[in-house]
Amino acid sequence: MDWGLKNRLALIIKPANNRAVMLAVDHGYFLGPTEQLENPKQTIRPLLQYCDSLMVTRGVLRTSVDANYPVPVVLRVSGGTSIIGEDLSNEEITVSVQDAIRVNASALAMSIFVGGKYEKQTIVNLGNLVNEAEQYGIPVLAVTAVGKDMVRDARYFSLACRIAAEQGAHIVKTYYCNDFEKVVNSCPVPVIIAGGKKIPEREALELTYNAIKAGAVGVDMGRNIWQSNSPVAMIKAVRAIVHGNADVNQAYDLFQKLEKESPKQSKPKSKPQEQNKPQNKQKKTKSKKTTKEKVI
Ligand code: 5RP
Repeated sequence: MDWGLKNRLALIIKPANNRAVMLAVDHGYFLGPTEQLENPKQTIRPLLQYCDSLMVTRGVLRTSVDANYPVPVVLRVSGGTSIIGEDLSNEEITVSVQDAIRVNASALAMSIFVGGKYEKQTIVNLGNLVNEAEQYGIPVLAVTAVGKDMVRDARYFSLACRIAAEQGAHIVKTYYCNDFEKVVNSCPVPVIIAGGKKIPEREALELTYNAIKAGAVGVDMGRNIWQSNSPVAMIKAVRAIVHGNADVNQAYDLFQKLEKESPKQSKPKSKPQEQNKPQNKQKKTKSKKTTKEKVI
């Protein structure tokens, strides 16, 4: 492996313990101002010191993240669709490698939609991105986005993760499922998990613990951190599992203790099923069955 690639990967997956806590805040690239990420600067600022790297779009990076703060950036470079559009799998690469270098990205991230309508396009996008990024020693993280008709099981995730690795992805991000060892063991590159939709904190910590136990190197977690009533307490509890080898009880105790010490000013919550709906209520959103729930 080239020195630069190895060096950048070491900023994301800590070589001391082969673990990683990534904070995912890229959701706006197709969801717009989703709940608790309406003002990215406010959401990101208190959490920055507790993540090993930040997964973000270039727009939010440039406008909402302090360039003086030395956090490694995993730059989302795919997009082109929205939650109210025809098909979320119809993604392209939207950011050049030159611009990624300009913002000093430590890795590039994009989604593949295995089994989706635009499966081929997204897998070819991945291959092409790896071709280009490797010229500059930049690793690529592939996100295995999930179609709504797909069974979220080890068979599907093994397929999707393996395809990503075969195309040359250096890290694969996927979702936790039963028999997760199968997914990890059949993927020759490090696997990291997304948190998925907001669930109670204890359950999110359980998911983190189980994923690590099954061989994941860490988390790239978003909503289960910043949609918590106590985001800092939650990211610290997640860290305790990933880097401190805490078990679920220890991590949840820590969460509860920290939550009591500094509770967040909670905002009124929307109903769970409406959490990711765009703010405007155009007719189109109502009349059309969107694929909102399907990818993340
Ligand atoms: C969207 C993504 C998100 O970064 C990913 O879903 C992680 O965030 P969360 O923990 O909220 O699921 O890649 O495609």
